[in-house]
Amino acid sequence: PFRQRLLVVANRLPVSAVRRGEDSWSLEISAGGLVTALLGVKEFETRWIGWAGVNVPDEIGQKALTKALAEKWCIPVFLDEEIVHQYYNGYCNNILWPLFHYLGLPQEDRLATTRSFQSQFAAYKKANQMFADVVNMHYEEGDVVWCHDYHLMYLPECLKNHNNNMKVGWFLHTPFPSSEIHRTLPSRSELLRSVLAADLVGFHTYDYARHFVSACTRILGIEGTPEGVEDQGRLTRVAASLWFFNCLRHQFPIGIDSLRFQNALLVPQVQEHIKELKERFSGRKVMLGVDRLDMIKGIPQKILAFEKFLEENPNWRDKVVLLQIAVPTRTDVPEYQKLTSQVHEIVGRINGRFGSLTAVPIHHLDRSLDFHALCALYAVTDVALVTSLRDGMNLVSYEFVACQEAKKGVLILSEFAGAAQSLGAGAILVNPWNITEVAASIAQALNMSAEEREKRHQHNFHHVTKHTAQEWAEMFVSELNDTVVEAQLRT
Ligand code: UDP
Ligand code: G6P
Repeated sequence: PFRQRLLVVANRLPVSAVRRGEDSWSLEISAGGLVTALLGVKEFETRWIGWAGVNVPDEIGQKALTKALAEKWCIPVFLDEEIVHQYYNGYCNNILWPLFHYLGLPQEDRLATTRSFQSQFAAYKKANQMFADVVNMHYEEGDVVWCHDYHLMYLPECLKNHNNNMKVGWFLHTPFPSSEIHRTLPSRSELLRSVLAADLVGFHTYDYARHFVSACTRILGIEGTPEGVEDQGRLTRVAASLWFFNCLRHQFPIGIDSLRFQNALLVPQVQEHIKELKERFSGRKVMLGVDRLDMIKGIPQKILAFEKFLEENPNWRDKVVLLQIAVPTRTDVPEYQKLTSQVHEIVGRINGRFGSLTAVPIHHLDRSLDFHALCALYAVTDVALVTSLRDGMNLVSYEFVACQEAKKGVLILSEFAGAAQSLGAGAILVNPWNITEVAASIAQALNMSAEEREKRHQHNFHHVTKHTAQEWAEMFVSELNDTVVEAQLRT
């Protein structure tokens, strides 16, 4: 049977490389929602193009890594240290990431950031061109090229400049902010124009799509239509992945490979681990947070809310524990380093205040867990806490739901996560800035009746198992194919 060839282009490859010797590498699954969603995509002949997360200055290393990655259908883009510094640490994660999540530029070095803007944007464009060069090298006629995320907003234009017949889609995994925010970017027009070179652009929610269209109207002066954005007769379709979507015509809800999680719970070694965890925490309710250690995740806010809950509910103090998995991320960016020490300080203080000689209320881990350990944790959790200050979607909330068929635990979910639009009816929605409200929600969740938990869980479980990553990709690619055919008919 014909299988559509798909070139997935993302800054982060699904595996990250660790050097073991001059020509030997080991590969580890990368963390993050983008990788999780894309790993759930199966029915295509997929090639991945991206950065393996390491600097490989020598030819021997590059050759060996290229070979190791080829076994995983991955093709590396080699970025040198200076480019990584300016493009990845600088423009992507110090400028675009905070801005797209409404956090503004980092406080202390706002002026320094403003000064380095031009050189960082130049590096961003250069890096995007390097990704384009690798795509061009591997492109075959008929391929669909699917670009991902804020790292690669300049890529659609690079690709189309080289070959206007290439089918190019772009999907954003973060929020797209209000045009009032986007217009503060010195590179605001260039970024929009180059994204518009794609045939189809997609967002997680209707709001993000609407913000994008209004940025195009207000900044570029081009018109938004129900179909997308039209510039001198050329249409770029804009679509959101929202399920109750009704204004723009097209929808692709992102999701996870829910069966992979459900099946993992059946593995004997996972069952064993579940049993151990249950014993370890017997007599206590388990609350869980799983986040990259990122300022958008509202980890300090979450922990402070938990402290408030303990303060107000002395009877719960020895009956509940919060497990916080904080996966290290972007550790060369100063803002992330500051966050790490801030979180450590708060956790230490609260454990000192409410801990005993034998137990502490918060277990905080600064590392990632393997897939099976993570599934076991999700399965034994009574209450999951997602307190993102902004989050494109948040797939951790989906994964928790997928693993809760037995327990039917409660999801406390920030209203500022994209997932609030899809799991809102089953979750307890909170404003993470309001610590009193979050503390009250913790009490509500811990005291919730079995019937209500069941009802809420069923709602979310239905969504998570129905709207999978595979369906998301199929819809995006088929829409992209249709868009290109329609465009040919129009000319
Ligand atoms: N995750 C991981 N390693 C861990 C803990 C979590 O790879 O130790 C995964 C988690 O399973 C989820 C992803 O990281 O799929 C986080 O995705 P999400 O959309 O919640 O947030 P993002 O990190 O993309 O901002
Ligand atoms: C978010 C971004 C992804 C990114 C992931 C992990 O999900 O949308 O593009 O891959 O975070 O971050 P990292 O910088 O390690 O790739």
